[in-house]
Amino acid sequence: MALESQGSGRDGWSSRSAFILAAIGSAVGLGNLWRFPAEAGANGGGAFVVFYILCVVLIGLPVLLSETLIGRHGQSSAPESARRLARESGASRHWSILASLGVFSAFMIVSFYCVVGGWVLHYIWVFISDLFQTGLTGGAFQGRDPAEIEAIWPSLAGNGALTVGLDFAFLAITLFFVARGVSSGIEIMAVWLMPAFFILLIAITIYGSFGGAFSETVDYLFTFEPEKLTGPVMLAAVGQAFFSLSLGVSGMITYGGYVGRNVNLAGTSVIIASADTFVALVAGLCIFPIVFAAGLGANAGPALMFQTLPHAFQSMPLGSVIGILFFVMVGVAALTSSVALLEVPTSWLMEKTGLRRVPAACTIAFGAMILGALSALSTNQLADFYPLNFIPLFEGQGVFDVLDGLTSKIFMPVAAILTTIFVGWVADRRLIDSETGLSGGLQVIWRFLVCWLCPLALLAILAVGIFPDSIG
Ligand code: TRP
Repeated sequence: MALESQGSGRDGWSSRSAFILAAIGSAVGLGNLWRFPAEAGANGGGAFVVFYILCVVLIGLPVLLSETLIGRHGQSSAPESARRLARESGASRHWSILASLGVFSAFMIVSFYCVVGGWVLHYIWVFISDLFQTGLTGGAFQGRDPAEIEAIWPSLAGNGALTVGLDFAFLAITLFFVARGVSSGIEIMAVWLMPAFFILLIAITIYGSFGGAFSETVDYLFTFEPEKLTGPVMLAAVGQAFFSLSLGVSGMITYGGYVGRNVNLAGTSVIIASADTFVALVAGLCIFPIVFAAGLGANAGPALMFQTLPHAFQSMPLGSVIGILFFVMVGVAALTSSVALLEVPTSWLMEKTGLRRVPAACTIAFGAMILGALSALSTNQLADFYPLNFIPLFEGQGVFDVLDGLTSKIFMPVAAILTTIFVGWVADRRLIDSETGLSGGLQVIWRFLVCWLCPLALLAILAVGIFPDSIG
């Protein structure tokens, strides 16, 4: 039986597992595969990873439950859901700002996220053409020296027409699924692609583990050295946990709005957070053995996936095939996230203007094309264009970095702090308790986390995001 949202035929997930897969699809993305290994590598490995897991459990999980319950209660777009809960709690309807801010962030994130999605498309193509040139056996890029392989990345990033074209291509694929609707587009994509993603991830990880550097990786990722746990490392870990769980941008409020009444949100939140963390850790176990086996460094940051890793496929048997599969896997994960990101402003516009889904999705995508083109050009033609140069936090940053920084350092934490204050302190307790379905000790723990730990920890992130020099 369909768990359709109540109300006048609003589209919704057809089952609990469809919701879980779509939400996992939203959470699992470039954040897990590209950003997590890069951050872990740049922040010293084990200390970062252990603290990251702590953050997911203590901060991520309570905020995830808060967001999905606002959506499920409201059964609407994110701002309208928040407004409804506020109204029923006798609070100001202006609390919906927490969700409006998120809608705006989601729009900005999808704009630059599709640029990275476009880079991924390029690498799929690079490995396919390599397969045709050098054949199935042996590693990728045979006969080419390492400098030549590493040059693939700067030559892509430096080509304006190519980065913009690839960005538009990735956005068009995203639009296709969003335009088809929740149950017949987004859900179908998630239900097919997420299992495929998991199969690829496990297969590549097992394959990589034969490369020999597996135990080195396990040591690297899980040896906890307390002295490495500095302030900036902790903050990087909290921020990463947030980005990875898709929190603070109304994504989970929007997806929660399509969930039926009979789904236990605390249970699904645990499943979603566990799956997302599992993928991040496995991504680490997948990428680092390949990098270490090739004798490369772990701390390449964002270039780890696009510059270091391709180089590592050279020494791997069946290298070009593994390269294709690897980047297809990354592309699939990115697509299920970009679809969620585009859905957030689309559902808002539909509700706000009464537009039907297709024109609403196309309008938002058009905006994302413009902002996305500017982001895509920020690694080449617009490399010297710093839109917010007058603000110290964004000095010397191009459009891509400004969009990323504005959302992750300011909008996301502000929206999340407002969410926890709203759910913890303002909203009617009975309504909240009936949505979470928690009772006894778990409820007490959850309340403590939402009311105290989350807002305070998030305030710290926001402060350090804005005043990076205030900590050591
Ligand atoms: N969590 C996604 C990832 O790991 C990125 C993301 C951030 C996102 N916020 C979101 C996806 C909101 C969907 C909705 O790649």
